[in-house]
Amino acid sequence: MVHADAVIRVGAYRRAVDGAGHDLVERPVVMARVAGGAEDPGRHREFEGHDAGQREDGYPMRTRELGHGPILSHHVHPATRRAEGCDGTVIDMTKMRAIIAERAGGPEVLELGEVERPTPGLAEILVRVHAAGINPTDWKSRSGAGAVGRTFPLILGYDVAGVVEQVGHGVTLYRPGDEVLGMPLFPKLPGAYADYVVAPARHFVPKPASLSFEEAAGLPLAALTAWQGLVDTAKLKAGQRVLVHAAAGGVGHLAVQIAKSLGAYVIGTASAAKHAFVRGLGADEVIDYHEADFVDVLRDQPVDVVFDPIAGDYSSRSLTVLKDGGVLVSILPVDDAAMKQAEARGISTGFTIVEPDRLALTAIVDLVEQGRLRVEIDSVFPLQDAAGAHRRGETNRTVGKIVLRVVEH
Ligand SMILES: NC(=O)c1ccc[n+]([C@@H]2O[C@H](COP(=O)([O-])OP(=O)(O)OC[C@H]3O[C@@H](n4cnc5c(N)ncnc54)[C@H](OP(=O)(O)O)[C@@H]3O)[C@@H](O)[C@H]2O)c1
Repeated sequence: MVHADAVIRVGAYRRAVDGAGHDLVERPVVMARVAGGAEDPGRHREFEGHDAGQREDGYPMRTRELGHGPILSHHVHPATRRAEGCDGTVIDMTKMRAIIAERAGGPEVLELGEVERPTPGLAEILVRVHAAGINPTDWKSRSGAGAVGRTFPLILGYDVAGVVEQVGHGVTLYRPGDEVLGMPLFPKLPGAYADYVVAPARHFVPKPASLSFEEAAGLPLAALTAWQGLVDTAKLKAGQRVLVHAAAGGVGHLAVQIAKSLGAYVIGTASAAKHAFVRGLGADEVIDYHEADFVDVLRDQPVDVVFDPIAGDYSSRSLTVLKDGGVLVSILPVDDAAMKQAEARGISTGFTIVEPDRLALTAIVDLVEQGRLRVEIDSVFPLQDAAGAHRRGETNRTVGKIVLRVVEH
């Protein structure tokens, strides 16, 4: 389904002016025809081509590619402040769409609205968000229950995959048009459920060409959590045995693959219907936690590391299958009794929280490029249905990642 609104927003205009009133476009582009062909993919192909522009004072505009389908171009000139669609609609380019939660509550508080488009400062980049990853921390914050105190109204979303639109003063890493992914600013909110985010350039890495924007948006927070837990906290080594709970989940499915890439023997827990998927990720064994207690299965074959995205009684029960001196990586708070139990046996544990980490993100992207790490997409929702994405996530039954599509491709 084509959203005419999206067509207009990404740069189909016949006249655009910058802040000083300069014309940025001299001749009409094909907005009216594209809008007319919105329901007919075949007709879009007629509009492929290039449309070079020039400002009235001779300043050359970047060539704006007229791509397949409904999207004309994402490369609106950064100085553009106001643009006029061929249907006469005037678009204020200083604004952007965003999903705004005015107050804490259920998914219904996530509403599409309009806010100021940010501009990049020193060492920052403006990224046109193509897809935004959804994480459980999002619905915890939305409901007012997150670990980080939030002030409403807020725009959720940590995971960004998109295209650099504009670079701030001093940025040499990126140029407009570069494709990037990242989990910028965490635990502050970059507000990825929106058309644009601004964040430090070095909180992003180049997006591998092999990943779609949706896959790229599913990667940063979950993969960094798995990487930092297994590599930095547990220092997992080849040949060690690791138990990954919730192995089909957003973090778990990446943890299984990262642990395998380190040469570990990987045991996962998941519902039976997800066993083929988890084995396909490389897991050596999968335990159906509905049918068997992992404590009974592993009591005589203890593991060196447990990666635990569940906590509660899983913390103390996981300790019983760990070797003395092992590591329990918990990405949720561990209760005091389990902490004491672990200390008595020389097991290292404690709550670990993900951090922006360009070194790790680069290593993660390397694994993707080597074909050793992939992102499973559970479902994709359009930006305006962020509430639907949260409802899906809160079932706690997903496989891999949920993603918001911000730009239609
Ligand atoms: N500390 C941090 O920095 C950090 C970072 C990321 C995430 N987290 C937290 O970690 C948790 C998991 O995040 P996520 O993104 O991986 O969540 P998720 O993708 O929503 O997890 C869903 C998965 O969990 C599985 N699952 C649920 N209960 C299970 C159980 N008892 N045993 C085995 N599998 C179970 C489900 O499989 P079945 O259908 O088979 O049950 C499903 O595949 C969340 O609470 C999140 O907030 C913390």
